[in-house]
Amino acid sequence: MQTWVDPHDILRWYLDAGVDETIGETPVDRYAVSQRAQQARLTAVQNPPPATMRPGVAPVAAAPQGKAPSGVAAHIAAECSTLAELRTALEKFEGLALKQAAACTVFADGNPEAAVMCIGEAPGQEEDRQGLPFVGTSGKLLDRMLRSIGLDRSTVYITNVVPWRPPANRKPTLDEVAVCLPFVSRHIELVDPQLLILLGGTAASALLARAEGINRLRGRWFEFNSPGLPRPVPVLATFHPAYLLRTPEAKRDAWRDLLLIQKKLAAGRH
Ligand code: URA
Repeated sequence: MQTWVDPHDILRWYLDAGVDETIGETPVDRYAVSQRAQQARLTAVQNPPPATMRPGVAPVAAAPQGKAPSGVAAHIAAECSTLAELRTALEKFEGLALKQAAACTVFADGNPEAAVMCIGEAPGQEEDRQGLPFVGTSGKLLDRMLRSIGLDRSTVYITNVVPWRPPANRKPTLDEVAVCLPFVSRHIELVDPQLLILLGGTAASALLARAEGINRLRGRWFEFNSPGLPRPVPVLATFHPAYLLRTPEAKRDAWRDLLLIQKKLAAGRH
């Protein structure tokens, strides 16, 4: 026997459960999207395409026929053998609609020879305007955080998982992150840092390929493994500076994370 339910009751039920906004016409299975993003990372790590790049020749961002954008990205990224080639490849890449709305490709800032590499989420408005990562309000806080443990942009290299500003500063989707992942993984390989700092949940989940949120991932040492690295790189995730600006009480935990990084760097110097 079917029971008729008044649509107002259903709407009331959604409101009581905290739903106050419709995002799309059809439901999205976020678990399936997340699994696809993780699978893309695993595929990129386990099956790197052969590096056929001739030295000094800029990579061509032509999409191999019939490949998914993350597969195309993995193919192109693997052919880059220098940071300059990777930057050119990103500037030519046409596999992500996000790029059309952005003013520029925000590649990196800081010292590519530095021991420490920081990776954020995606450029904001100011970054998109200047073409450099972390130069807006959260960048100012990041600079202060780094300074508190004796680092600055001459001793740190900074980039983002996604090099294009998402419209209206929205979070990049898991599919967008999956497409960018081969590029940022290759970026890490080419810099070959001694230590990686992941700023916020997007960078942490993407590069650690883990489903937990930043509250569980921060403050613990992990390793980043990739076939193009001579050895695994120690990784620490911490809160994103933008989150710390909104949630000052979390700064205490972020400070603990910074001290862990300082200790690790001091140990490496012996
Ligand atoms: N937030 C980020 O994650 N990256 C930036 O470059 C700026 C803000």
